[in-house]
Amino acid sequence: MAEKSCGEVELLKSLETKKDERLSFLQEALCIARKAGKIIADVFHETKNNIQIKATCADLVTETDKEVEKLIFDTLRSKFPSHSFIGEESVSEGSLQCKLTDNPTWIVDPIDGTMNFVHMNTTVAVSIGLVIKKQTEVGVVYAPMRDQMFYSVRGEGSYLNGKKLRVNTAATDLSEALVATEYGSRRDETAAILSENIRKLLMNHRVAGIRCTGSAALNMCDVACGSVDIYYEWGPQCWDVCAGQLISHEAGGITTNALGGEYDMMCRSFICACNKNLIDQIIPTLTQVPLN
Ligand code: IPD
Repeated sequence: MAEKSCGEVELLKSLETKKDERLSFLQEALCIARKAGKIIADVFHETKNNIQIKATCADLVTETDKEVEKLIFDTLRSKFPSHSFIGEESVSEGSLQCKLTDNPTWIVDPIDGTMNFVHMNTTVAVSIGLVIKKQTEVGVVYAPMRDQMFYSVRGEGSYLNGKKLRVNTAATDLSEALVATEYGSRRDETAAILSENIRKLLMNHRVAGIRCTGSAALNMCDVACGSVDIYYEWGPQCWDVCAGQLISHEAGGITTNALGGEYDMMCRSFICACNKNLIDQIIPTLTQVPLN
């Protein structure tokens, strides 16, 4: 994982020319995501000790999650002392509240895909979003084991390792769509609803395929890349999706809540797709899952 100069990024040059204040935010997010990714990569193939169980046996935290979140927050706090912070592990421990105000707020998941990380499955990512007046302005998702750096600034498009992203424009019908969803970390009767939704997509719509990767952030980046066409889930928190949703939006994607209404990242359910037609088609098929 070579250290890369953030200066090589085309988007940074364009923001610099426009004297856009978001330049420094993006620069810092890219640099710290890469540093965080190195920490993850360095221990990736080691057996993980000190795994703690959070809400369920499928909701885990490792020492690396905590170390990475601390590094990201310490760095960003020193650069932007007036900003606010929401992070998966700080909220879990109770040291921060999951409450969004109009103040610039960094929303961070140090390892999205912790279960994958524990299993040495490479679908893991650092997710860093900056929200100002409740709008995500900067999003960075870095998948260190693939050296994939996704990033976006509102109104400026999204990129993967310097290449501009565009959603798939070929899938206009659900039967052509590669669908991502997740079972999440709940281990209760809602698993039956999730399975039945998948059964209906396969049997009634004959969708092209179903993917469950274990990372909400990367699922949204997959919509941005065109490597999946639609992704829906009930359960993810704002840190799982804040950055990825901007990246998919800036690549031409559309996100609604799970009923097709206005998307709100604090509401923990959504459909993110390459076009609205797919969302309109999937809604009557999906049985809604009550949030816990
Ligand atoms: C989880 C992943 C997973 C999603 C869960 C999230 P974490 O995040 O994004 O794909 O299904 O809802 O909690 O716990 O690995 O950061």
